[in-house]
Amino acid sequence: MKKFIPFLLALSLALPGFSVQNNSRKVIDFNNNWKFCLNDTIVDGSLVKLDVSNWRTLNLPHDWSIESDFKEDFPASAGGGALPGGLGWYRKTFFVDKKDKQNKVFVEFDGVYQKSKVWINGQLVGYRPNGYVSFSYDITPFLKFGSENVIAVRVDNTQQPNSRWYSGSGIYRNVRLVVTKPVYVEQWGTYITTPVINNDSAALAISTNIKNDMKLRREVKVEQKVYDADGKIVASTDGNLIMLPATSKSMLQTVQIHKPIRWSIENPYLYKIVTSLYVQGLLKDEYVTYSGIREIYFDVTKGFFLNGKPVKINGVCNHHDLGALGTAVNTRALERQLEILKGMGVNAIRTSHNPPAPELLDLCDRMGFLVMDEAFDMWRKKKTKFDYSSDFEEWHVRDLTDQIKRDRNHPSVIIWSIGNEVGEQWGDTPAEDVDLQQANIALNNKKVIENEDTKKGKYGKNALLTRHLADLARSIDPTRPVTAGCNGTQDSNPLFQSEALDLIGFNYHEQEFADITKRHPKTPFIVTESVSSLQTRGFYVNPSDKVLICPERWDKPYTNPTQKCSAYDNCRAPWGTLHEDNWRIIKQYPHVSGQFIWTGFDYLGEPTPYWWPSRSSYFGIVDLAGFPKDVYYMYQSEWTNKDVLHIFPHWNWQPGDTVDIWAYYNKADEVELYLNGKSLGKRSKGEDDLHVMWRVPFEAGNIKAVARLRGKTIMTKEVNTAGEPVTVKLTADRTSIKADGNDLSFVTVELLDKNGNPCPLADQLVRFNVEGQGSIAGTDNGDQNNHTSLKKPERHLFYGKCLAIVQNNGEAGKIILKADVEGVGVKTIELEAK
Ligand code: GAL
Repeated sequence: MKKFIPFLLALSLALPGFSVQNNSRKVIDFNNNWKFCLNDTIVDGSLVKLDVSNWRTLNLPHDWSIESDFKEDFPASAGGGALPGGLGWYRKTFFVDKKDKQNKVFVEFDGVYQKSKVWINGQLVGYRPNGYVSFSYDITPFLKFGSENVIAVRVDNTQQPNSRWYSGSGIYRNVRLVVTKPVYVEQWGTYITTPVINNDSAALAISTNIKNDMKLRREVKVEQKVYDADGKIVASTDGNLIMLPATSKSMLQTVQIHKPIRWSIENPYLYKIVTSLYVQGLLKDEYVTYSGIREIYFDVTKGFFLNGKPVKINGVCNHHDLGALGTAVNTRALERQLEILKGMGVNAIRTSHNPPAPELLDLCDRMGFLVMDEAFDMWRKKKTKFDYSSDFEEWHVRDLTDQIKRDRNHPSVIIWSIGNEVGEQWGDTPAEDVDLQQANIALNNKKVIENEDTKKGKYGKNALLTRHLADLARSIDPTRPVTAGCNGTQDSNPLFQSEALDLIGFNYHEQEFADITKRHPKTPFIVTESVSSLQTRGFYVNPSDKVLICPERWDKPYTNPTQKCSAYDNCRAPWGTLHEDNWRIIKQYPHVSGQFIWTGFDYLGEPTPYWWPSRSSYFGIVDLAGFPKDVYYMYQSEWTNKDVLHIFPHWNWQPGDTVDIWAYYNKADEVELYLNGKSLGKRSKGEDDLHVMWRVPFEAGNIKAVARLRGKTIMTKEVNTAGEPVTVKLTADRTSIKADGNDLSFVTVELLDKNGNPCPLADQLVRFNVEGQGSIAGTDNGDQNNHTSLKKPERHLFYGKCLAIVQNNGEAGKIILKADVEGVGVKTIELEAK
């Protein structure tokens, strides 16, 4: 017995940030030292006595699918990322202190893909089919105090396909234990709104759900303290609540904040609210919520307003995978994605098409992004054979409720989306009857569906379902508008006919944007999804003004032996738009609140317009490894104040090639291009243009662009024809990282010729090796067609670049990354974990 350290104590000492005073709750990181086995032949991995000595030991978050090579015959297919599903068991042994016998113990999962079952000491405590929602179980009744306990989690991702994109498999988000006194704030137990905001003061309404799990009646003092970003208390209040035995109650308290500082994109200012519960003068619980003060408003003719000022929502859609890391959530990897997007001018994220990791919303709060928080990709009508549609009826009320309860304090979240292109938008048929009675029961008889209109038969079945979901969302949080991403025709779309959406949400259909207010005169409008342009970073098809629609029509096949898409903005899906064409339309209409471009980053799966051997998407403005494609700079020139002059493509062509050279620029009134010192002419963007172009017969040497404003040179850019590579260049995004076992350094590899020019077509193999306090967490190059596991410590360069992701192992010290490039050389870079 001795070998089991009383881990609650040990961890609370090791992680001071996670633990509060003895009398209050303990939040314990529960990610480390799990046993894992991927095997559907295990009859029962939940048995208390089981020999797991040959199971793997690992730390969560964990995605087992990403560890494999890509294969055509995995049932997820290329659409699901050509990686395996399967059935996985996770187990962990843990000690619970005798002293906690009087306490409550919960295990919280941020997300398990999918159909998870959890056992404590052989007893089943719960099942959750939805792979994206967060959930928690009260495990107190199942625990043995003062002794060892076993938690077992069965994760079932066998039935495939169940997703239109790469889902990942496993306990891919964080897990924690929460230990409270029997009088405590419930999970997601605070709800903070700002009913009044003006320059002098803001009213913060704090509603707290409290549970008394004792057999005694208790008088609870509920104290609220609001801290500003400097840690100063700026408001407080308290009040008393009588709680009967074994009951939950909520308490509403209001505080005034003098001269409130508003949360905004430029200044994402957060207040910290500490809720403390006292019983008989003793502190029983302390619960922390971060929130912000901001006003949001959507206007039918003028679009979106944040804090009274018009803001165009320049957003992107992203899926949840983190490229080579798969779906295993990592805060630094998310932060890097957001930093890259912020650099382009993106101010909003759509969590397509599912609830995100909570860390993403924390980052959006902190970094100043707006969020459209989406719930479902399907309702009752399926999109893939084994998807969530079969769980929808039983689980959607619970899932949507939990999502909104979890996320409603985030100032970044400004829109709830109840669905993306759900099949129900194509019409009402009797087969799609919603079991309204069931839904109403699930809603605790709130009767959100039955009203006078529905009784008179004004709405069809799918419109009723829309009303049901929108009303459910509003019943949990009435402070944000509800929308859905629709691509069905406007006139017969039951989602629009429902009149239940606060925002008309359109995917694509840019030709209809101009007249939208005529058709929906009372409802503001947002482009929930746009563009679907297709690009392979570094690959260009000339002439660049020939638009490549791939495939020609959505239902036709498309093949091209390159398995690549041109990275001029000249290639798109038939339902989509080129980036420039779309932005030209959106920017001119104030009534268009903004858009979410499909997509910010490439993602695993959905390799439109191809299928296997492609296995990841071409839609991203940034590739899967995090390297921007050229169009990134078009947005940067329009959406930021940065000085932009970006010329492309590279200048390593063949004699006889004719190559279009594009320049994205801002702040200048002309750009002149020189080839080997000879002017190829000046170009200026016309009112509608977003780039300028020169058609140039290739001649090796130097291309130079000079941007001028009123005759004065303000920026120059040069590209040289590169010779043979002779040097390896390593660039780390950060050379100093945290020694926390999670932090990452993203190291880019390029090859240079003898004059220091990057070699844009380099494709050599790079072998990585790490010494010291770290390891390779993944490698990538953005190539949609490579089938080597993204976990492998080697990668070819792809159009001149590849990436190694180095992760700290929990110890402080040096990390040396070595990159060995066949025939070119070896280079090392020293990183430090502190
Ligand atoms: C949309 C859909 C997205 C993605 C995209 C590809 O219609 O909402 O999930 O499939 O098409 O263009």
